[in-house]
Amino acid sequence: MKKRIGILTSGGDCPGLNCVIRAAVSHATLTYNWEVVGIPYATRGLLERQTIPLSIHGWDLRGIDPLLNMGGTILGSINKGDTLASAQEILAGYEALALDALIAVGGDGSLKIIHELANMGNWNLVAIPKTIDNDVALTERSIGFDTAVNTIVDAINRLTFTAASHDRVMIVEVMGRTAGHLALHSGIAGGADVILIPEIPYTVKGICEHLQELRDRWRRKFGIVIVAEGATPCLEDVSDGDSCNLGNAPGSHITSPKCGRGQYIADQISSLTHHFVDTRVSILGHIQRGGIPLALDRLIATAFGKTAVDLIAQEKYHQMLAWQNGKVTTVPIQKSLDQSPGLVDPKCDLVQIAHSLGIYIGDSE
Ligand code: F6P
Repeated sequence: MKKRIGILTSGGDCPGLNCVIRAAVSHATLTYNWEVVGIPYATRGLLERQTIPLSIHGWDLRGIDPLLNMGGTILGSINKGDTLASAQEILAGYEALALDALIAVGGDGSLKIIHELANMGNWNLVAIPKTIDNDVALTERSIGFDTAVNTIVDAINRLTFTAASHDRVMIVEVMGRTAGHLALHSGIAGGADVILIPEIPYTVKGICEHLQELRDRWRRKFGIVIVAEGATPCLEDVSDGDSCNLGNAPGSHITSPKCGRGQYIADQISSLTHHFVDTRVSILGHIQRGGIPLALDRLIATAFGKTAVDLIAQEKYHQMLAWQNGKVTTVPIQKSLDQSPGLVDPKCDLVQIAHSLGIYIGDSE
C-alpha cells in the first residue's frame, strides 16, 4: 500500500537536519514509491495543516541536490510555545493531512512533546535525535554534535595563536545547556588548559592555581579556558551579588549568551589574580549551530533518515533511532526520554583523559 509520510524538524536547528530529510525522501521514493511531505515549523505546521512537497533532486534547477551540505532546516523549526495547549487542533491537523506515519527530528524537549501528542492521537511516530548538546539519552551521537565540536575546535585553534602572542587567557564560552559534552569534547580536541562543565564543580582558585602552574613550571604565559554555558562552581565559590544568578544545581542558571558565563569567569580570574592575568572572552553562541554539516553528521543523518523509513515499512513505531558502537540501532522513545538529558559521567574515559593530560576540569575527581 502506498504510504504518505510526514517529516518535521523541531527545536533548535543544527547542521545535518537537511541530510535526514534528503535520505528519508530518497529512500521512501526510490525503494517504496511512497510520498513524503514536509511539515513546516514542526507542530505549527500540523496546527495550520500546512505541508511542503518534497521530492528527490527537487530543490535545484540544475539537478544538484543541495540538501546534503546545507545547514539549518528547509522545513523551519520552533523551540518555544505551549504546544500541548493546542493539542486537540494539532491532532485534528494530523488527521486532516492524512498521514500514515510521521518522522520527527528533535532534541529531548521536542521529542517529549511530540511523543505525548503521538500517544494522544495514536500517531505512527518514528523519532530521530538531533542537538548540538548531544544530551539525548541512549544514543552516543545526536545529529549536529560533531559539526558543532569541530566549529568550536576551529575557534580554539584561532584563539590559541592570538592568546600566545599577547600572553592572554582566552575564555571561550560554549553551548550545551545542562550538559558538558560540547565543552569536554572540544576542549580536549582543541588542547584547552581548563574545561568547565556543569557536571563537575570548579573553583576559581583551582583555575587560577592551574594557570599559575603553567607559568611557573612550563613558562606558558597564555591559556585557553573552555566554559560550558551551564558550568557550575563549587558551592563555597558562589559569591553574593553574582550577576549571573548562580545556582548550585547544574545548569540551573543558564541564560547564555545573555548571562555571559564566560565573562563571569573572566571577572573572577581577574579579581583573584589582582588583574595580573589578562583575560579576553569569546562567546561562540549560535555560530556553533551554523555551518555546513561535516561528514560524520552527514553519515549519521543519512543512516537515521533511511532507517526511519524502513521502520515505517515494518510498522515498528514509537522507536527512536540511536547511534551505538558505530551503527544505527533503535530504542523505545519513552526509554530515551526517561533518561534524558544524558549528562557527562564525571568518571567517564574522556574526563579521565583530561585529568591525565593535566587539564583542570574541576575540583572533584
Ligand atoms: O539546545 C541547543 C541549544 O543550542 C543550547 O545549546 C542553547 O542553550 C540553546 O539551544 C539556545 O537556544 P535558542 O535558539 O533559543 O537561543
